[in-house]
Amino acid sequence: MKIVVAGTGYVGLVTGACLSEIGHNVTCVDIDKNKVEMMKQGISPIYEPGLDELLKRNHDEGRLDFTIDYKNAYKDADLIFIGVGTPEREDGSANLDYVFNVCRQIAENAEKDCLVVVKSTVPIGTNDRIEEFLKENVKNDIQIEVASNPEFLAQGTAVVDTLYAKRIVIGVESKKAEELLKEVYEGYNQPIVVTNRRSAEMVKYASNDFLALKISFMNEIANFCEMVGADVEDVAKGMSFDPRIGDKFLNAGIGYGGSCFPKDTKALHWLANDNGYELKTIKATIEVNENQKYKLFRQAKNKFGSLKGLKVAVLGLTFKPGTDDLREAPSIPNVRRLLDEGAEIIAYDPVGVENFKKVYPSGITYVSTPEEALKDADMAFIFTEWNEIKSLDLSVYEDLMYTPIIFDGRNCYKVKEAKERQIDYYSIGRKAILNLEEKALSKVKTAMVI
Ligand code: UDX
Repeated sequence: MKIVVAGTGYVGLVTGACLSEIGHNVTCVDIDKNKVEMMKQGISPIYEPGLDELLKRNHDEGRLDFTIDYKNAYKDADLIFIGVGTPEREDGSANLDYVFNVCRQIAENAEKDCLVVVKSTVPIGTNDRIEEFLKENVKNDIQIEVASNPEFLAQGTAVVDTLYAKRIVIGVESKKAEELLKEVYEGYNQPIVVTNRRSAEMVKYASNDFLALKISFMNEIANFCEMVGADVEDVAKGMSFDPRIGDKFLNAGIGYGGSCFPKDTKALHWLANDNGYELKTIKATIEVNENQKYKLFRQAKNKFGSLKGLKVAVLGLTFKPGTDDLREAPSIPNVRRLLDEGAEIIAYDPVGVENFKKVYPSGITYVSTPEEALKDADMAFIFTEWNEIKSLDLSVYEDLMYTPIIFDGRNCYKVKEAKERQIDYYSIGRKAILNLEEKALSKVKTAMVI
C-alpha cells in the first residue's frame, strides 16, 4: 500500500520514518524545497535523537522518499497521514488552517479511494468536519474516509516513543478503516485501542491535559511544601510507589512548556467554554503554570530589589532537555523580565542557542560552556535540566561566581549538597539554603549602587 505523510514536523516526519522502518513505502510531503533536499540526504530538519539514521537508512533502501510534489503524491495514495501543525490562536483556540489546506490539496488531487488519517491534534469534532469537507470538495469519483489517530510522542524520545509506543489509538467510523489501520500498525506489535473518531480526538487532549494537570498539581504542592517545611522531592517519592499515582510527571519545577501542553490545555479550555462548560481543573492548570514560570524571578527581585547591572548566568534555554525547541520555554519570558530589569545576561545551552538567538538576536552574551556563563556572575538561573548542567558540581558555582546565588528551576541539586557549600540556593518546593554571609551579598549590593 502507498502511504503519504503530509507535513514533516515532529509528528509527520517521525511517523513517516517509523512506518518505513517497519517496511512500508512512505512518501513525506512538505512545502519547503530545501528541507526536502536535506531529508533526502538523511539530515533531519529537527533535532531528534536517532532520526537521522532512520531517514538515511530507509531512504537509501528505497522505502522512504520526500517530495514537494503533493499532486503526484496524493494522486494514488491508499493512506494519507496528516501531521501538520495546529498552533494556538490568540484566543487560545486551535488554528486549523494548515490541516484544511492539506485537505483541499487531497480533495483536488486524489484519484483513488483513500483513508485520510489525522495525526495532528485537532478539536473534538474536527475529523467529522474534515470528512464532510473532503466529500464536498473531492474532484474525482472516489471514496475518501477519515480516521483519527492521535500521536503521543514526546520530543527528544520521539523515535523510541513511536517504535515502542504504549498504545495506538485509532478513532474510526467503519470496519474497513479499522482493518486498514490495524494492518498498517501490525509491524509495531503494540496494543491498539479502537474508538469512534470523537473519542480518539478527546483521548489526545485528555492525555496531554492530564499530564499538564499532574505537573501543575505538583508545582502547587511544591509551593506549599516550602511554606510548611516539607520537601517536594521526598513527597513525590512517597507518592510514586502507589501504582494508582505512578512515578512519572511528578517533578516540580518552573512550569511546563513545549509545543503541546500549553497549547492543548488552552485549546480544550476554549472548546469547553465554546460548548458552555467550564473545565475548572484545566483552568487551574493553566493559571498555576503561568504563575510558576516567574517564581524564581520574583524571589530574585525580592532578594535584590533591583537587578540593574547585575550579571546573570542563564543555564538552559530549551523547554526541556533533549530538544532544541524553545516553544513556550520558561527561559524566554524570564530573560525578557531580566533584560527589562537591566540585568546583563550570559546564556548557555548545549543545543538551543541558535534558536534562542532568533528570539533575542542582541543584548545577550552566548557562551559555549556553563563555566563561561558562571564566571564572575552575580546569580545563576537554571531553566533546563540538561546533563551538562546537572553534572556540574556545586563547587564550580562556588568557585567561579562573584556571588554564588543559584535559582534552580529544575531541582538539579540535592539540598544536602547545597548546605555544605558557601552558596545561596533556591529551588522548587524545598527549603532555600542561605549560606552566604551578609558580607558577600553586600558586595553585590554595593556593585548595584555604583
Ligand atoms: C508532551 C507529551 O508527553 C506527549 O505525549 C505529547 O504527544 C506531546 O506533549 P513534550 O511536549 O515533548 O511531550 O514533552 P514532555 O516530556 O511531556 O514535557 C513537557 C513539559 O513538562 C516540559 O517543559 C517539562 O519540563 C515539563 N515537565 C515534565 C515537568 O515540569 N515535570 C515533569 O514531571 C515532567
